[in-house]
Formats: sequence, structure tokens, C-alpha cells
Amino acid sequence: MKKVYYEIDPWKIIEDGFDKSKVRASESIFSLGNGSMGQRANFEEQYSGKTYQGSYIAGVYYPDKTRVGWWKNGYPEYFAKVLNAPNWIGINIRIAGIPLDLNKCVEILKFRRELNMKTGIYKRSFEIQLSANIRVAIDVKRFLSMKESSLGAIKYQITMIKGDADIEIDSYVDGNIKNYDSNWEDPFWDFKSKIVSPELLLLHSQTLKTKFDVATYAQTQLFDKNGVSKGNFTTSEQNQIISQNKKHYLTEGDSCSVLKFGGYINGMNYDVNNFESTAFSLVLNASSKGFNKLAEEHNSSWNKIWEQSDIKIEGDDKAQQAIRFNIFQLNQTYTGHDARLNVGPKGFTGEKYGGSTYWDTEAYCLPFYMATKNHKVARNLLKYRYNQLDKAIENAIKLGFTDGAALYPMVTMNGEECHNEWEITFEEIHRNGAIAFAIFNYERFTGDTSYIPEMGIEVLIGIARFWAQRVNYSEFQKAFVILGVTGPNEYENNINNNWYTNYLCQWCLRFTIEQIFKIKKQHIQKWEVIKVKLNWLDIEVDRWKEIADNIYFPKHPNQDIYLQQDGFLDKKLIPATSINKNERPINQHWSWDRILRSPFIKQADVLQGFYFFENQFNKATLERHFNFYEPLTVHESSLSPCIHSILAARLGKKDQAYDFYLQTSRLDLDDYNNELEEGLHITSMAGTWMSIVEGFGGLRIIDNQVHIDPKLPNAWKTLSFKINFRGTIINVKFSKQKITVEKSNKESIVYCKGKLLN
Ligand code: BGC
Repeated sequence: MKKVYYEIDPWKIIEDGFDKSKVRASESIFSLGNGSMGQRANFEEQYSGKTYQGSYIAGVYYPDKTRVGWWKNGYPEYFAKVLNAPNWIGINIRIAGIPLDLNKCVEILKFRRELNMKTGIYKRSFEIQLSANIRVAIDVKRFLSMKESSLGAIKYQITMIKGDADIEIDSYVDGNIKNYDSNWEDPFWDFKSKIVSPELLLLHSQTLKTKFDVATYAQTQLFDKNGVSKGNFTTSEQNQIISQNKKHYLTEGDSCSVLKFGGYINGMNYDVNNFESTAFSLVLNASSKGFNKLAEEHNSSWNKIWEQSDIKIEGDDKAQQAIRFNIFQLNQTYTGHDARLNVGPKGFTGEKYGGSTYWDTEAYCLPFYMATKNHKVARNLLKYRYNQLDKAIENAIKLGFTDGAALYPMVTMNGEECHNEWEITFEEIHRNGAIAFAIFNYERFTGDTSYIPEMGIEVLIGIARFWAQRVNYSEFQKAFVILGVTGPNEYENNINNNWYTNYLCQWCLRFTIEQIFKIKKQHIQKWEVIKVKLNWLDIEVDRWKEIADNIYFPKHPNQDIYLQQDGFLDKKLIPATSINKNERPINQHWSWDRILRSPFIKQADVLQGFYFFENQFNKATLERHFNFYEPLTVHESSLSPCIHSILAARLGKKDQAYDFYLQTSRLDLDDYNNELEEGLHITSMAGTWMSIVEGFGGLRIIDNQVHIDPKLPNAWKTLSFKINFRGTIINVKFSKQKITVEKSNKESIVYCKGKLLN
């Protein structure tokens, strides 16, 4: 277990003391977001030490020209990158002519950061000795409004603890921003215009190539300690840095506050011609309400979120803090109002992964949003893929598929493939199956039977057509096989007959056939339209049936075990515990061929199939497979421990389930993989939620009914969670002795361990 750096508190994340080596990690941990924009917790004032600046805007990306060593046909032309956007939070301070810089000051006497997840407010305070005669205290509060999605607010208070001095305030918007992750060092932004006035700073920029228009705006005010405004700022500008400036004299014991409102106005949602008036009305409205009122509104939005999605754990603050941190970050990343947006693996906390959509969304994130929000939010996630179906078909055409076969990209922003490693881009095709599974899962959970006939069926048919063309008949096996694939376990490449992929293929074909029959029966007119649109031929179903009934699954010759792939038993099957600790993670220490030859499994693969299709295997079968694959798994993807936790809970392996839970939930808080600086693992946070609700809570939807099967970890006194099941809020609370279930609609029923609960 790793040492805890951030203090344990049920509602807060706290860093006490200043450690230069942790600045970038803490910038990730204290990141803020509101679904429309987000930012790492960079300091407002200048910092000359190592920092990783990052501000991001939902949906705004740049197509960075692909760079590969050896070009392969079918590679995408570009990788869509979430952009580091102009910075609006900067407030440089000079006191008696000395710049405030935590990297350079004489002494840091106190330093503390605190993120209150309940209110959504991030605070930072420190006291420093700037020179022999000057000591100051700084208290900063900041939030990105959950109510007004284009608005952020900062209150920056300066107190003279010792000495009198002139304070120079330089509050700016900086457009000279670069991505750290850039293939060719290209500029990503073009500048259109600016407004530099005491009332408003505004930088209108446009992304090169993709032409997204964004206005970065800000307004600064200064108040004395009694809240009296100190009048207008002057302005200055230099290249793409525009500033509002002011001098103010503070005597010992006195203080003042800089108030800054700002954010982004995104051309995806606002008329570009009205950027200026929109920004004006945002700052006017904000300053007439004031910081406290805006903070209250923001708090009440968070209250509503927590009201619906909080999970309470009594008896284990470490676990409690962790689940709240995960829920908090998921809500900061995606609010679900816009089907053009999705959940990137790093959300708004870093540039890695390009900020794009992976199979993570369907396999991991959907259940969280489905159960903690209105069903429309989850439907928007499905619609995102529906709207990109044409691109998935184009993508398949590039790889030689025909007749409406669709291969969804491994990574995407707008539906086009962005990934360029052949063994993943072309071969990690199981992602198509997760997208189909999510459609099934959505209907199972929400009971919304309209999605499949309206949209889902087209996606399912495109995916089924792909599978039907991707298999080939093996005369040797007398069965259909799938060659040249990579399963979820990316530590095996270009393998044949990955069990999980073959299973998904079979399931997708059967599920799509079932849905076609249903639509033909229930919505014949719709079906007539779809048939024409998709050039449908009834004989397709015959072929799909033949494939599904005759697909090959690799099996152990002597034990009742499905093999991860052909030839798996040729490996030397030694457990992951035999790996030298200082060689972990192996992907940072071993050559790729060594990884490929080893038996070690990056993340749930066969077990991912047992998770999705749990009801198709009995417990004994699950246990055999868990016992076989778990010891080989190194969990070097953040998506792994959560699935193992759920399966371990199902098998009654409570301690193991609990250890995996801590690993998934505290992955970032305790920086398990030594990569916190790069940002947070947002998509796996939804897996953490699953490991509580589906793992310890045992939640399943079976035949339109809610089933629970609580298993409380030994360390916990009680656990309670809520789900929104088809409009009824069901609140489950249990201890070792007692289970209580409250329902907002008395009519709805819940089963516990197979028995009806009253
Ligand atoms: C995992 C993938 C995942 C991606 C983004 C990789 O390390 O192996 O399954 O989609 O990260 O989270």
C-alpha cells in the first residue's frame, strides 16, 4: 500500500505543506471542471518552478498531423487533441517590487490547499517571507460555476502580516499557450481580435484547421478589507497577453482582495458575432451578484448532484474520501447535456490520450451516468456514437470492409479514427462490441425501449456487419475464427481468437438478430424505412446465425477454462507476484517483446467477458476463471482493478474485493502508477463507482427489476448509495446486521438476495 500524501477527510482533499516535487501532481489532484471547461490547479501568481499548465474547453480540439515511424495504410491523418486553451486565471503580484513566486521567496511559512468536494470550492492559502521586512499571507478561493457553465471566479486575498508595501496587481489573459503534447510544434490557435479595457479583457481565438471559435474573457476588481471597491484598473498588452493592472498600498495588518471573473465562451454554443456582448453580460451579472452569491449558486448545484449521487461509507474515511473524489471528478467532467461531448480518459486534467473518446465510455462510464442522472444523460452518450455511425462506416471502408460494416474508432473526437498503432488501431476491435453492449445495457437499466428502434438498431447492424466480415471460416477448426486481434489486454498483440473478442462477436450477432425481429414485430413501418436506408437483405441474418452458432472458442485441453487466445498455454504461466517489485510497472521497465512473450495480463480480458455476461456463466465457472487469470494480471491499466473487485465480491472474496477497491478508488490520490502529474484517470473512476454499487452492493437489473446482494467489507460499518431506477430514487443502506431500502415511489420493488424486500 502506498503512503498517503493528501490528508484523509470524508469531504475534502487536503495538502498541508509545500513540496516542490508535488506541484504538478497536485495540479492534477485539485483540477476543477464544470462539464464545459476545466483546468489544472495552476497557481494564479507566477511560478518559476516545474509546473504543467492546462486549461481545456469541452469539444474543442486540434487535428495534430500524425507522426509515426513507419506509415501503414489505414492510419489516420491526424490525432485529435484537446487543446491547452488561453489562460484566464493569471494574477501576477509584486509586493514592494518583489514578484510573488513560491519557487523563489525567502521562506514559505505555511502552505495549504483544500478542495471541498461538497461545495466544489478550491482554496489555497500560504504565508511567506518575501524579504527581511515583508511577510504576507495569501488566501485564494476558486471555482468553475456548475450553474453558469461559461463562468469561473477567483477571490485572491492579500494580507500584510509584516511591513508596509505597494502591491502591484497584473491580472491577465494569456493567449501564448502551447500544448505540451504536440507532434510538430505547430501553433494550434490563431488570434482574431481582442478587447483590452478596464471593464473587460477578451481574446477571440480560433483553432487552426478545425476553426473552433473561443472567447477567453476576464474582468478584475479590487476591494479593500471592508469590501469597498478601489476603482478602475488600467490596461496593458503585449503580444497575446492582455492585462488589467492596479497598484494599491497596504500597511501592516491590512488586506485587500482581487476578484476575477472569467472563462470561455465557446463558439459551439454561442454566436461568434455576440462574443463581446455575451462576455459583458456574464461579467456584469457576476459582479452584480458578487463572489459569495455565485459561490452559493454553485454550491446548490453541487448539493443537487450529491443529493442524487453520494455514496456514504461509515467506518472507513479513506474509502469514503476516495469514492467521493471519484464521483466529484466524474461530475466535473461530463454533465450530459450535449451529445457532441464525451468523457475523455483524463477529462480536463491533462493532455494525455488527446482528450478523446475510448471504449471506456461504453464499458465503464455509462453505468455511472445511467444510475446517478436522468436517463437522457446516458442516452446522449449513446447518441454520440449514433451521430458518428457514418464515420465508423467510412473507417471500416478504409480497412477494406464493405456494405455498411462499421468499425468504431479506438480513439476519436468527431467519429474519425485518431489512433495510429496498427496492433491497436486495426486490431483492438473489441471496442465495437462494447458499443453494442452499452445499447443493451442502457435498455436493460433505463427501460427506454425507444432508443433501439429509433437509433440503436442502425449502430447494431453496422457492427454486426463488421463482425460478419471480420471472421473467416477455418477448415482446420471447422469453425469461424477471428485472426489478428488485440484484446483488452494490450500486452498481447496480433493474436488469434481472443476469447473475449470472439464471445462479443457471437453476442453482438445474436443480439442484433433479436432486435431486428423485435422491430419487425413492433415497429414494422420504422423497419421498412431502415431497410431502405441500410440496403438491408434478409439473408444477412442467416449468415450471422451461422457464424454465431459456429464460432470457435479456445479452450484448455484438460481443464474447464476458456483460454485468452490461441497458444496461451505455450507461455510459462508464472504469477505476477514473481515479478521483481522494482520492475513494475513492466511497461516502464521491460522491452515490448518481453512483455508480449510473458503471460502477464495488463487488464481484465477474459474476466471482462465474465463481467459483461455474468448471467451466462455460473459461479463455479467464474471462480475457475478468476483463479486462473487473476494471478497473472498486473493491473497496469486503471480500468483493471474495478472489474476484479466486482468479480471478487461476487465470489465472496471480500478482502480481495476491498484491496482492489482501494486500488481503483485511490489510484490517483495515492498515485499508485507514479503518473499523477499527467492528470487523473477519469474513466476508471466510473469503474470505482461500479465496484461499490455492483460489487459490494451487488446491484443487478434482472427482468426489469432491481436486485441487490450486499456484501460489506469488514472495515465498513455501513454503506449507502442511491440509484435512479426509471425515475424512482432507490436508496440502499446496509450494515452487517440490517438492510434498509427507501424508494421515492412505493410501488417499485427491490429484491435482496433473490427475495422480495418489503
Ligand atoms: C487501456 C485501454 C483504455 C485506454 C484509455 C489503456 O491503457 O489499455 O483499455 O481504453 O488506456 O483509458
